[in-house]
Amino acid sequence: MNMPFKAAPPIVLPSDQDASGRTLGDDEIALITEAIRSGTLTVTKGTFAKRFESGFAQAVGSQAAHACSSGSAAIHCAISAINPEPGDEIITTSITDMGALTPILYQGAIPVFADVHPLTGNVTADTIAARISDRTKAIIVTHLFGNPCDMTAIGELARSKNIPIIEDCAQAFLAKHAGKAVGTFGAAGCFSLQQGKHITTGEGGIVVSDDPKIARHVFLFINKAWGYGDPNPDHYFVALNYRMSELQGACALGQLPKLAEVVVSRQAGAKRLTADLQEIPGVTPPHQEANDEPVFWKYAVQVDPEIIPGGAVALAKSLKEWGIASAPRYIQKPAFRCQVFSEQRTFGNSRWPFTLARPEAVDYSAELFPGTFHYLERVLVLPWNEQYTTEHLDYIARAVRFCAEALVEGGTK
Ligand SMILES: Cc1ncc(COP(=O)(O)O)c(C=O)c1O
Repeated sequence: MNMPFKAAPPIVLPSDQDASGRTLGDDEIALITEAIRSGTLTVTKGTFAKRFESGFAQAVGSQAAHACSSGSAAIHCAISAINPEPGDEIITTSITDMGALTPILYQGAIPVFADVHPLTGNVTADTIAARISDRTKAIIVTHLFGNPCDMTAIGELARSKNIPIIEDCAQAFLAKHAGKAVGTFGAAGCFSLQQGKHITTGEGGIVVSDDPKIARHVFLFINKAWGYGDPNPDHYFVALNYRMSELQGACALGQLPKLAEVVVSRQAGAKRLTADLQEIPGVTPPHQEANDEPVFWKYAVQVDPEIIPGGAVALAKSLKEWGIASAPRYIQKPAFRCQVFSEQRTFGNSRWPFTLARPEAVDYSAELFPGTFHYLERVLVLPWNEQYTTEHLDYIARAVRFCAEALVEGGTK
């Protein structure tokens, strides 16, 4: 493409925030109607969420799955199942959603942030190894934007230290590393069914595990630790009501058969866009390792500020004129710069559990996080969903090329 042209008016891209970019339809309506007609809206008595759970476990290739109220709840369940002592450390990533982090504090553990790979934004075996101590109780990895972490190397490291891994797969439904679905490498895999995820129930989550003890604990944690079905049930430990409702279960059951196709569509779209974004000065398509199959929750490019004046922020501003709402810096700042961590704002004025932390565990000095700062400065997150047509994809490619080249040439176009 030698001479890109500017389209006017801008194309309206499908959005994952409404029907245009979602797969919600008659199947979900029929199932939700059936749930309402049944008069049973609690999962403790109904069958919809249960059917979703067994279908989801099968889709991912896991022994068990338990649905819950959100991705944050899913992470909380998994951490509780690991059962940290107050002050135990859980290694996590500096680039993730807050819902993957605050459950660590609610379970009395200390989040210890690992740096990320400068090209993927994912934690690596090396960045995790640098934060392991004799108090490390678990490792949580986030497969950012649906691009798998290196679970071969991270798995080896964790096994050698006997530390369980929790996989945050909120953005990574059916993503594969070395031919195996993410969520099945660690002790538990946690997914979010929030509005913008690959499949959605508006809000919702699900935890998979091959370990019967972990799966049982997750089930109990979702249910106020009440031993449903036990001969002498009790509330066995501290836990909350993290159930989804049958309405969400019915919706999820309608969404599940569409998941594989959603993933294929997102992957095909990404392949086309990546081919079209080659050799644009200063713009690098998403990094992908040969043995990974990412599923593109979003399409995150890297923008080199040394080539494109103003970097990702300037490119985002130009793309807005084309009607493309991209997000430079993704979460804006490393998670450890949020007040909950930097000011240790937790329970009353106690700062607990940070009061139990080793100083090194809560050292958030910038020098410890070169990959994180590099990645956040360059990342530009393009909106993405399964309803993009070739027309949409070609429009995005044209827009990125035009805007990048215009910025490089100093706005002469
Ligand atoms: C990586 C990651 N982890 C956890 C969560 C939390 O999920 P939820 O918003 O469903 O609580 C999200 C959701 O946005 C996420 O993207």
